[in-house]
Amino acid sequence: IEQRLLKDPHAPPVVPYLFPFFGSMITFGMDPLAFFRNNQARYGDCYTFLVFGRRMTACLGPEGNNFFFNAKLAHVSAEEAYKHLTVPVFGKGVVYDVDNSILMEQKRFMKNSLSNDNLRAYVPMIVDETETYIQRWAEKSGSVDVVQSVAELVTLTASRTLFGEEIRSQLDEKIADLYHDLDNGFTPLNFLFENLPLESYRKRDAAHIALKSIYLDILKNRSESSTPSQGVDIINHLMTCTYKNGQVLSHYEIASIMIALLMAGQHTSSATTAWALLYMAEQPELIDQLREEQIQVLGSLDAPLTFDAIKQMPVLDNLVTEVLRLRPPIIEIIRKVVKPVEFPGSGYVIPVGDFIMASPAITQTDPKIYRDPLRFNPARWFEDAKKESAASIGTEADDVDYGFGVLRTTSARSPYLPFGAGRHRCIGEPFAYLQVKTILATLVRHFDFKLTAKGMPAADYTKMFILPQTPAMIEYIKRQ
Ligand code: HEM
Repeated sequence: IEQRLLKDPHAPPVVPYLFPFFGSMITFGMDPLAFFRNNQARYGDCYTFLVFGRRMTACLGPEGNNFFFNAKLAHVSAEEAYKHLTVPVFGKGVVYDVDNSILMEQKRFMKNSLSNDNLRAYVPMIVDETETYIQRWAEKSGSVDVVQSVAELVTLTASRTLFGEEIRSQLDEKIADLYHDLDNGFTPLNFLFENLPLESYRKRDAAHIALKSIYLDILKNRSESSTPSQGVDIINHLMTCTYKNGQVLSHYEIASIMIALLMAGQHTSSATTAWALLYMAEQPELIDQLREEQIQVLGSLDAPLTFDAIKQMPVLDNLVTEVLRLRPPIIEIIRKVVKPVEFPGSGYVIPVGDFIMASPAITQTDPKIYRDPLRFNPARWFEDAKKESAASIGTEADDVDYGFGVLRTTSARSPYLPFGAGRHRCIGEPFAYLQVKTILATLVRHFDFKLTAKGMPAADYTKMFILPQTPAMIEYIKRQ
């Protein structure tokens, strides 16, 4: 079959490789973005490469984004691409283990649980968790590994807000170990091989069962309690949700959704916060600007941060937007082709069985779209990039309402898509922005940051989410 596909005159060009089966695994794995860019220069926006016997077809550029994110369900499937990776971690009956129409309903439930009223209530909680956390940085100055510290902070703040007080109060080593084991079962290796006789696979399955049972207990206790929980967390919202056919979400489904949200939100928000702190440490004038903006909006750095105040802080907003442009946590988004589909304008027909891959990170750093694209420059969002992005995005007619609501632009033709587009678009964006911004705004009230002599760390491409290589040290200096 391989030989036939390689000779198929309609199939996209194939990146040459030395070793059958392994294909381009090493060059792709070492630096996927360099691989995408180099081969885009040779073959254009659509080409195929081999990784561990799988045919991967890159769909790049604004047209590639649009083709990928707006592809018909009859042609490409996220379920076929992700099910074997996600079911052992999330559980059955949710996300990629259900028909797409059910996922759309489940996403509406998740999106509605992140209402403005809930987000408003989360700000003081995130501030409180952050201020408590930084008390461990007792010295006047010192250095910390941002990846580790931010991961802890994101877990604490997400648990306090989204995952329920029971989880927050149990955030001891036991839960930390379960998170760790689930993470180790959610890697590129797990994407490639559903099951291997490895300890990490066994621990993943055990952690799934243990965390599921913790959530099932919480749900049982809440539903049987004579004093209903008043929490603004997601669990309470999901307990009120009903499908269009009148069926309520079962406790098992809710528990699975909670784990899915943990996996979707933890490393994405951590990566964004960690890169933001590194760039702030590299360009300390950004820290001054963030403080000045807070004083302008709130009158002083002692006034409580609020949801409405944070909404009036464009410097902070642009900083996060720029991190997500230059360092999007997800750089490969995958579907499986289930019916031959033509890549627009190329004459190439992508065959059934191929995994197609989008990488908005490529359009987000394209010099034809963004001036000086590899420079971290949040100020660009005040000026040119907004216009340039707007010029290249599609019309509103490109936006399709899948029933879970749209945020910012969902036009798949936009070059700027850190949250994806179309039916699988992220529903966590408002929470992620709020969480990252509140943590950063709180930290700059208490500290200045500097890079250490080691400078800016490179990206670690060995994980599902692109974090800085560790240890990623920054120096903190307590403000008087
Ligand atoms: C989907 C990015 C935070 C929940 C996605 C997708 C991207 C993304 C690129 C599309 C995946 C695809 O098309 O296959 C991000 C980034 C985040 C972030 C960059 C933070 C900076 C969150 C948070 C949550 C969340 C905090 C939950 C609280 C989801 C869900 C989906 C999704 C439920 C839908 C998956 C699907 O429909 O297939 N996210 N995400 N995300 N994200 Fe996020």
